Order: sequence, then structure tokens, then C-alpha cells
Amino acid sequence: MRIHVTRKLPEKALQTLYASGWDIFVGPEEIPNRQRLLWGVGGAVGILSLLTERIDAEVMDRCPELRCISNCAAGLDNIDVDEAQRRGIRVCNTPGVLTETCADFTWALILGLTRRLLEGDRMLRAGAYPGWGPMMLLGLDLHGATLGVLGMGQIGQAVARRASAFGMRVLSWRRGDSLERVLRESDVVSLHLPLTSDTRHLLNAERLSWMKPGAYLINTSRGPLVDEAALGEALNGGRLAGAALDVFEREPEVHPSILESPRVLLTPHIASATEATRERMALLAAQNLISNLCGP
Ligand code: GLV
Repeated sequence: MRIHVTRKLPEKALQTLYASGWDIFVGPEEIPNRQRLLWGVGGAVGILSLLTERIDAEVMDRCPELRCISNCAAGLDNIDVDEAQRRGIRVCNTPGVLTETCADFTWALILGLTRRLLEGDRMLRAGAYPGWGPMMLLGLDLHGATLGVLGMGQIGQAVARRASAFGMRVLSWRRGDSLERVLRESDVVSLHLPLTSDTRHLLNAERLSWMKPGAYLINTSRGPLVDEAALGEALNGGRLAGAALDVFEREPEVHPSILESPRVLLTPHIASATEATRERMALLAAQNLISNLCGP
């Protein structure tokens, strides 16, 4: 009876798994390649996965006794949940414990992007700071500006709550509302939606063209919500003032047109990356797995 942990996790979570008495197999620290994953899961009754592993029918075929897939992530888009349901395999995730951490990080991106922190940093390091200038690196005043929050789950709500401290007006969007109005009126648009077949390329070329000229886009949810090639065009054509992206369409790759744009702030999918939160997520994923395997 073995549990397969696809990648090395914070120690506390591993200790919890070892203490459960099950046979625990822990994968590598780095992203396992497909072969290694398929080989590693063989015969497992439980899988503890990360968002870097695609858990689909081929993986499930390798472990006919599989009873639970516990994803150490808020998102579930790396798992074929329908396929798991068809096979009676339980699927769980770790929402809640990363909400405030991700909301803080979203604000780090909003502030960093609209006040051009990285451009300033790069200027100084390049020895290109000519001395103070009245027109240099002008950004956007957040107070009085409008923040469009797409997706009002826990993280979207936590981002919106912080907006009042900055004196921003908030427009929130839930599926079913008019997206056009929120995009046309927002100075900053922040994405907080899960990736599903409905939300893939939610921001395509047409919808990006609805955004206010000179607006900013923030994405800390999932890369494929945005058509990256279309975003590159909107940025490089000067229609948008900037974008801050923590997630990408084909991670770890970034579309070349985005990399070329000077008005982007890029981070490597670290919105939930604090020591405490990553530990809480791993621990919750371990507990979810054990309680599902031990429960009725
Ligand atoms: C991170 O992207 C997560 O879904 O937890």
C-alpha cells in the first residue's frame, strides 16, 4: 500500500506522511519527467501531486488501486478530474491556506508595475540614471483609479479588500456578468479565476482590445487565461501600459513578444511562495490524502 509524492515537499508534510505508516515514495526535487512520473506512480493507492505534474488517464492506468489524488495547489487544472471521478478516485486541493499570501503578492505586482519599480532598478544598474527628472518613469496613481477583479473567489475577494486601503474603486466580475464593462472601465485588471475550458483565453485579442487604453493587466492565477501572443501585441503596440505576470501559458516558457516588452514585470509563479504558506499547503495536502485513504 504505497503513496507516491511526485516531488520533494517541505519536511513537516513528509513527516506527517511517514507517521501515517503507509509506504511513502518521494520523487525528485526538480520537476519529474513524464517517464519518471509514470514509473514512480506504479501501484500507488494515493498520489500527492504538484501543479507541475499532469495527472491524467495514462497516469491513473498505472495505478489501478488508486483511491485519492491530493494536489498541493489551489488549482486543479493539472488533473483530469472528470476521469478521476469516472474511476471513483477522490481528488482534493489546498484552497484557503494561500489566500492572503497570494493577495499580498498580487499587490506587490500592482504596485511594482504601476510605479515602474523594475524599470527604475534596471536603469540604475545599467548606469543609465541621468539624475532626477520631472518626467522620468511616471506611473499611475492608484488612489482614485479603478481595479477590475476578474473572479471573486477567496483570492479575488482578498485582493479587492486590500484595494480600499489604497483608495481604489473596485469593479468585480463573476461569470455571467458583463466582462466588457469591467474591462472598459478598469485602470488595472487582475485575474483570479481557475483554468477551465470556459476560462482558457478569456482574455483573447478581442477582449484585450476592450481594455482601457493605457490600462495594466495582472495575472497571478493561470497563464492560459490570457492569449500571450495577443497580450504581447497589445503591449508592444502601446495599447496597454503594462502587464505583471506570475504565470504563463506554457510554463516555464514565456512568449518572446512578452519578454521583449519593456513594460512587463515577470515573476516565476511565486504568488504563494512564503515559507509558512508553502508549508501549510504541503501539510494540508498530506492530511487530505491520509484522511481520504483512511476514511470511509
Ligand atoms: C498555485 O498556483 C496554486 O494553484 O496553488
